[in-house]
Amino acid sequence: MTKTILSALAGQTLPVPPIWMMRQAGRYLPEYRATREKAGDFLTLCYTPELAAEVTLQPIRRYGFDAAILFADILLLPQALGADLWFVTGEGPRLSTITTPAGLAALKPAEAIHVTLAPVYETVRILAGDLPKEVTLIGFAGAPWTVATYMVAGRGTPDQGPAHALKAADRATFQGLIDLLTEATIDYLSAQVEAGVEVVKLFDSWAGSLRGQDFDDFAMAPAKRIIAALKARHPGLPVIAFPREAGARYTGFARATGADCVALDNSVSAEWAAANVQKDGCVQGNLDPALLVTGGERLVSETRRVVRAFSGGPHIFNLGHGITPEADPDNVQRMIDAVRG
Ligand code: CP3
Repeated sequence: MTKTILSALAGQTLPVPPIWMMRQAGRYLPEYRATREKAGDFLTLCYTPELAAEVTLQPIRRYGFDAAILFADILLLPQALGADLWFVTGEGPRLSTITTPAGLAALKPAEAIHVTLAPVYETVRILAGDLPKEVTLIGFAGAPWTVATYMVAGRGTPDQGPAHALKAADRATFQGLIDLLTEATIDYLSAQVEAGVEVVKLFDSWAGSLRGQDFDDFAMAPAKRIIAALKARHPGLPVIAFPREAGARYTGFARATGADCVALDNSVSAEWAAANVQKDGCVQGNLDPALLVTGGERLVSETRRVVRAFSGGPHIFNLGHGITPEADPDNVQRMIDAVRG
């Protein structure tokens, strides 16, 4: 029997959509907080294969999701390229910044990443052995634009201002950074596939701040190159692309990049996306994660509305963005019951 997520990614319309959640291993779960405590800090958790595999499995055990997503972070790749990376509790990531040609030249070449990332591949190998046979293992990386926004600014920013400024002031250096990240992402995802992931997802969390030609050059072109290279190395590998807040640019994104599935954030309505995006193939999404905090009858009715809107084509049920630490674990079960019931 084919796994449900792989069937949906191959274009099948299923009577009940398969389901998983962005950030399903996370701080809303007491068992995650306990394992993170044991690891001491977030990066140690990411780089300790037994513990990273454990937190990946926790939401599968508790809820029986159809997919597990490798526990890691999109910012491990810049670290593997030589950037300094640390997390400030309650504030988020910090990195050394890349803003000059010399800074770019000091980064390591793409093929050097495996030294740092070897523990991530070991996590994948453990999971490939330990996951229930019906559960699909998803690997991931950040898309080059989103990773570059953190590398240029040295932190998360509300408007990605520093990356836009470098792009305007020194296009060659900015393009060089995108090109290095594109090559490194191909190598990174390829190594995840060799270790045992069955699907890969590209997170372009800040794609929505790219306008006009910039969206073509920095969201679509790198995705297209990464997907083509991965499919050349691993024929038949399904790829999910998440150009978050792409809005009208979701239309045609799968055809233009070769993605098998487009993940939708909750700023677009499911009804609009069914007509304009799902017409080209599988979509993933797009319940508002805030509903897992507030719960109640609206959680159930909105979950059913998303399922109904996408019921005419291939669909993987998910949130429009990651579940937040304030979410109630019981609301996750209510959402799953509303999808499957
Ligand atoms: O989804 C999963 O369960 C798999 C693991 C995963 C994490 N981060 C773990 C994590 C995945 C797929 C990511 C992706 C990621 N990381 C993205 C893209 C998706 C998105 O949310 O838009 C981005 C932008 C990052 C960078 C990042 N990592 C930030 C900005 C932060 C701090 C904000 C926050 O939520 O705390 C992180 C930390 C992080 N990554 C946590 C987890 C579980 C929380 C760390 C903790 O336990 O303290």
